[in-house]
Amino acid sequence: MMTPSLSQASLFNLIDQLPKAELHVHIEGTLEPELLFELAKRNQITLPYADIDALRAAYDFQHLQSFLDLYYAGAAVLCSEQDFFDLTWAYLSRAHADHVVHAEIFFDPQTHTARGIPFETVYNGISRALKQAQYQWGLTSKLILCFLRHLPEQDGFEALQQAMPYLAGLDGVGLDSSEAGHPPHKFIRLFEHCRSLGLPVVAHAGEEGPPDYVTEALDLLHCQRIDHGVRSLEDPLLVQRLIAQAVPLTVCPLSNIRLKVFNTMSDHPLKTMLNLGLKVTINSDDPAYFGGYINDNFKACVAALPLTMHDIITLARNSIYASWLPDNIKKNPFATYSRP
Ligand code: ADE
Ligand code: ZN
Repeated sequence: MMTPSLSQASLFNLIDQLPKAELHVHIEGTLEPELLFELAKRNQITLPYADIDALRAAYDFQHLQSFLDLYYAGAAVLCSEQDFFDLTWAYLSRAHADHVVHAEIFFDPQTHTARGIPFETVYNGISRALKQAQYQWGLTSKLILCFLRHLPEQDGFEALQQAMPYLAGLDGVGLDSSEAGHPPHKFIRLFEHCRSLGLPVVAHAGEEGPPDYVTEALDLLHCQRIDHGVRSLEDPLLVQRLIAQAVPLTVCPLSNIRLKVFNTMSDHPLKTMLNLGLKVTINSDDPAYFGGYINDNFKACVAALPLTMHDIITLARNSIYASWLPDNIKKNPFATYSRP
C-alpha cells in the first residue's frame, strides 16, 4: 500500500508530537549565551565579549577544533553545583518541550576538574536536575561520562578515579573532543577497564575522523553505539557491517553543517543512511552552539531532504531502540509514552 505523503506542515506537527529519545547531547553544549552571561556575572568572570550578540557572532566555525576552542572557553563560567543544576535544568525543560521522553547526556568532567572544580560539584548539580525532571515530567535519563581524547589516556584514568565514588550514578562512558589524530586505539586500556566495571561504552567516531576510527571504536573499544559515524559511508564494507549488526549511529545534522562536515543540509547523507537500513537517530550535539534543539534538527532535515512520514517515525523509533532503556519499554514505546 502506498503511504500518503504529508505536507511539510504536517510533518513538522508529527515531529512535535512524537515521543523521542535524545542520545547525543553534551550538557556543556547546551549553555545558551544568555545563561553564559548570567553565570559569568554570578561568578565574577569577565568575558572577552561585549554582549550576547557579540558572543553569538563568534559562533562561526570552520571545523570541529574552532568550535571546541569556544566550547571549552564557555564552560569556564560553570563553577558551583547550582550552575550545573541551572544548565541541566534549562536543557531538560527545552527537551521536554520537544517531547523528549528520555535523554542520554554526556558531560566532560576533565574540563571542570582541570579548573579546580571538584567532580562532586559537577555530578551533584547535573544529577539533581535529572532527578527533578524524572519526578516532575517522567523524563528519564542516563548520564555518560566522556573522556577528552586530546588528553593522554592516563588523564582519563585519573578522571575515572575521581568518579569512582559516584559510579552508581554513572550509566556509561564516552569519548569526545578533537578526533583527528586521536584514534580510539589510544584508549584501549581505559575502555577495557570501564567495561570491567560494568559500564557500557560509546565513542565519537567518523565525525571528522576516517571510517577506520569507527572500525576501531567497534573492535578495540567495543562500543555499543557510534556517535556521528557519518564518514562510515566512505567504506562500503563498514556500511555492510553496521547494517548487519544494527549498530546505532547518533547523527547530529545541524552540528555536521555548522562544523562543515557537509556543505549544506541538502548534501547531508541522512536520507541515504535511512534508505540503506542503517540504525540512524537524530540528535542535537551542542544545541546552544549549532542553532537548534532536537526538533529543530528533525525539521531542518525535513526542509532539505525528501524525508517521509515513515522516515520520521523510524527515526523516533530508532532513538528508543538505540537507548539504554529497559526492554519492556523498547517493545512498546509509543504505548508507554503517549501523551493524554
Ligand atoms: N564535544 C562537544 N561536542 C563535540 C563534537 N561534536 N565532537 C567532538 N567532541 C565534542
Ligand atoms: Zn558530540
